[in-house]
Amino acid sequence: ATAELESYLEFAIHLAKLAGPVILEGFNTRFSPERSALLVKKGNTADLVTEWDQKVEKLVRKEITEKMKGHSFIGEETVAAGETCILTDAPTWIVDPIDGTTNFVHGFPFVAISIGLTIGQEPVVGVIYNPILNQLFTAVKGQGAYLSKIDENPREQGRRLPLSYPHPAPPLPSLSMALIASEYGSDRSTDVIDPKVKSMRNLASRYPSNLTPGRAVGHAHGIRCLGSATMNMMALAQGQVDVYWEVGCWEWDVCAGIVIVREAGGIVVDSCGRKVNDGELLIGRRFLVVRGCCGEDGDTSPEASLAAQMKIVQ
Ligand code: IPD
Repeated sequence: ATAELESYLEFAIHLAKLAGPVILEGFNTRFSPERSALLVKKGNTADLVTEWDQKVEKLVRKEITEKMKGHSFIGEETVAAGETCILTDAPTWIVDPIDGTTNFVHGFPFVAISIGLTIGQEPVVGVIYNPILNQLFTAVKGQGAYLSKIDENPREQGRRLPLSYPHPAPPLPSLSMALIASEYGSDRSTDVIDPKVKSMRNLASRYPSNLTPGRAVGHAHGIRCLGSATMNMMALAQGQVDVYWEVGCWEWDVCAGIVIVREAGGIVVDSCGRKVNDGELLIGRRFLVVRGCCGEDGDTSPEASLAAQMKIVQ
């Protein structure tokens, strides 16, 4: 089974190599005279899609359909175009052709293709490639996660994740010592934005001490929004942020990232800190990733985890 997963990893890297130059070309020519043709309207003014998203997804989907007979495909733009995609137990490639489309449009360099594979609804292979920064993140379930350049062999020339700590990442006892990634997301309706802003305020300010008896409370070190779910997850996998919390992610935003984060020692739960099965996690749109799951004084109870602390700020 491992040899089979390794061959899928190689295929996913091949897809990243196909897509990378196309994404880069779009990124570098977006200010050309044709740029008026770039934007294709999707949801609201904060929910962007470009011709490049569609072009990259078409390219990748064609390759998967031709080379991986019997496998299913779920892609952001395919779903946006009205196709219903149901996650089944069959091997399923879940792809976001350009995650961080708003960044892509503005030239903010946190842009990546995200290629995940699920088998039995469990994410088992993840490849995330940011061609602007030439960062290739790869992982196979049980085989570790790596960061390399696109033309390097990830395991031989790449670096094992996380970068900043020994593996696995040691747990962090309190949110008051954490750097947290989050996003406003593209759904700007008040019933989505208001609770998010309140949670961010609680993190930035003092979160309520009466809800954490006996535990350290205070301000989080900071909040970062990179504008891309995959890049936030890869910041966590590298050991640069401690929590990524978001309500509103789709399966193509998180599938590859789940494998890489887990292989880097991170924990993936729903946005309230509950452990849910992978199928539910992928389609639930509520999402939280933390490094290490334990509290102060080595307390490993679920109540003590960063995830539980995140629950109280919401
Ligand atoms: C979005 C980005 C954004 C996140 C949204 C995603 P897209 O993906 O990752 O940061 O907040 O939840 O849907 O539209 O750029 O592919």
